[in-house]
Amino acid sequence: MEINVAADETAVGVLAAEAVARALRGRPAPVLGVATGSSPLSTYDALAEIVRRGELDPSAVTAFALDEYVGLPPEHPQSYRSVITQEIVEKIGLAPEKTHVLNGMADDLLSECARYEQAMAEAGGVDVQILGIGSNGHIGFNEPGSSLASRTRIKTLAPSTRRDNARFFDDDIDQVPVHCLTQGIQTIMDARRIVLVAHGEAKAEAVAAMIEGPSGAQCPASVLQWHPRVLVVLDEAAASLLKHREYYDFAQSHSGDLLLESRRAHDQ
Ligand code: F6R
Repeated sequence: MEINVAADETAVGVLAAEAVARALRGRPAPVLGVATGSSPLSTYDALAEIVRRGELDPSAVTAFALDEYVGLPPEHPQSYRSVITQEIVEKIGLAPEKTHVLNGMADDLLSECARYEQAMAEAGGVDVQILGIGSNGHIGFNEPGSSLASRTRIKTLAPSTRRDNARFFDDDIDQVPVHCLTQGIQTIMDARRIVLVAHGEAKAEAVAAMIEGPSGAQCPASVLQWHPRVLVVLDEAAASLLKHREYYDFAQSHSGDLLLESRRAHDQ
């Protein structure tokens, strides 16, 4: 893992977006994995800026969302289909027809999950996956205790996740769906590169467990320790509980290149 601590949320987004753009540029049929939630919003703003500067062609990009609530119609303002259209497709200029989101209203949810896996495989797999992290250490909606070998499937949201996400539903936990469809941990691990962003004190504990804790299902994000090309971009607050921060000042993983490349791009 390559750990980078940026000054603030905006700087987190700039650094993460540069790394994402670099991973997509030059790919004949680039595939981007997108997360919803607040964490990557500054990354999407910075990606939109990169597109405005003419440094990335968004029309060529195929995108796959990580997850979707079960039972929310796509037009519901908090369905991930709606959020992705508003915050990602329209902002960055991705092609709507190349942007895939799980259908949480499908009659046969199991087949929907299998269809999605198939579509990802047919697209050639994900070149770079953008991730946030839940305050309980989840990635996608793979809550603590999820199988590390899991693929896209139906999950029950942890009560803490429903509490965290109630802010998007008039602060009313009862409006937050109980079930979701989510890419599995192994599905996420299949991405060629991963860029995880986190900011704010509420993420500090999960971030420390992800980077320094034992790798296991109690903190699903900690499985990323086994992925060869992960860039983690944090603000000071999210990094505040790291015990070995001084070791992370230089890229040390065997991949090395993501951070170095993004730093170089940042310095230019
Ligand atoms: C979103 C997702 C989740 C979020 C996580 C953090 O598609 O899969 O794992 O990334 O819950 O959410 P925020 O960024 O809102 O704190």
